[in-house]
Amino acid sequence: MSAALPTSGREWHLVARPHGWPKAEDFALREVPVAAPGEGRVLVRNLHFSVDPYMRGRMNDVKSYTPPFKLDHPMDGGAVGEVIASNADGLAVGDHVLHGLGWREYADVPAKHAVKVDPSLAPLSAYLGVLGMTGLTAYAGLFDVASFKPGDAVFVSGAAGAVGSQVGQMARIKGASRVIGSAGSDEKVKLLVEEYGFDAAFNYKNGPVADQLREAAPDGIDVYFDNVGGEHLEAAISSLNLHGRVTVCGMIAQYNATEPTPGPRNLALVIGKRLRIQGMLVGDHADLQPQFVQEVAGWLASGELKYNETFVEGIENGFEAFLGLLRGENTGKMIVSLA
Ligand SMILES: NC(=O)c1ccc[n+]([C@@H]2O[C@H](COP(=O)([O-])OP(=O)(O)OC[C@H]3O[C@@H](n4cnc5c(N)ncnc54)[C@H](OP(=O)(O)O)[C@@H]3O)[C@@H](O)[C@H]2O)c1
Repeated sequence: MSAALPTSGREWHLVARPHGWPKAEDFALREVPVAAPGEGRVLVRNLHFSVDPYMRGRMNDVKSYTPPFKLDHPMDGGAVGEVIASNADGLAVGDHVLHGLGWREYADVPAKHAVKVDPSLAPLSAYLGVLGMTGLTAYAGLFDVASFKPGDAVFVSGAAGAVGSQVGQMARIKGASRVIGSAGSDEKVKLLVEEYGFDAAFNYKNGPVADQLREAAPDGIDVYFDNVGGEHLEAAISSLNLHGRVTVCGMIAQYNATEPTPGPRNLALVIGKRLRIQGMLVGDHADLQPQFVQEVAGWLASGELKYNETFVEGIENGFEAFLGLLRGENTGKMIVSLA
């Protein structure tokens, strides 16, 4: 156990369920007491925490694959930090850990839910992104769910984001015939082509997605990695070739919708083209973790795979960081930094 522990720390609570776009009044940053960790637990000073699109769904009071955030309780999510007090075997003061109690300065974590990470192998923030949950989502969604094979033409939406940027580059590295991405600004489009090596990219705000996709992929696509849903999914169905595959990873275009959103009007094309459209949850793919880390670490070391992170400094800016993510203010992984 360590001597000088903090007596209090701040954490973000959900205080009202947002209707449509989240508002500042739906959240509160509260100061709460911090205690020494109980048996089998560690006290962690969080250095970075993750804000992710799926958290919007957890703000609604609906049954889903993860339970809703409780009102007037701290929100949670991925975080990395330093152990400042330990009451558990195997974790010592000074160790760095990845765990699930983000959105707060100090986390009282059961040791069995903390994974030791090595800051000398990769920057700590990478364990939330390229080497963490979003990286594994890209890897599993492309290689396992979409059954990617060399020669496939791959289209990914949300392509400058944490998941999308990795999907496109992984496809390129593994021999895609063509990689196409869409993103929400001309600057992001430039990054996709010039930094990440996409063959073509377009700004979905500049015109109908179907037209822009057809132009970017004149021979059609074999795989669509969907991060967005809506108009993007409909356009992809039109451009998919025979036996095309769709990984439905996310549908961020509808996360703040207040009414049910229309489905793709061209769904009947699935029949003749024998398309496979499959949803995914990264949590189902933990078996791929060792292979994923080994392969991605190699690509990072060789410089073949690049990644970006957008840091928002200070816990007081946590809500703004989350809103910024939904608005597209991030390039690559959006991270709140407390260091
Ligand atoms: N199924 C799973 O297990 C799993 C796991 C992780 C993530 N996901 C999903 O994967 C997707 C990407 O997640 P991420 O963590 O990598 O986030 P991200 O892509 O880094 O950030 C979200 C991005 O979505 C884009 N966006 C926002 N509203 C949009 C709209 N109406 N139309 C098109 N794009 C919009 C914004 O970029 P622009 O500037 O390009 O608009 C924003 O930067 C999300 O849908 C998420 O829910 C699923």
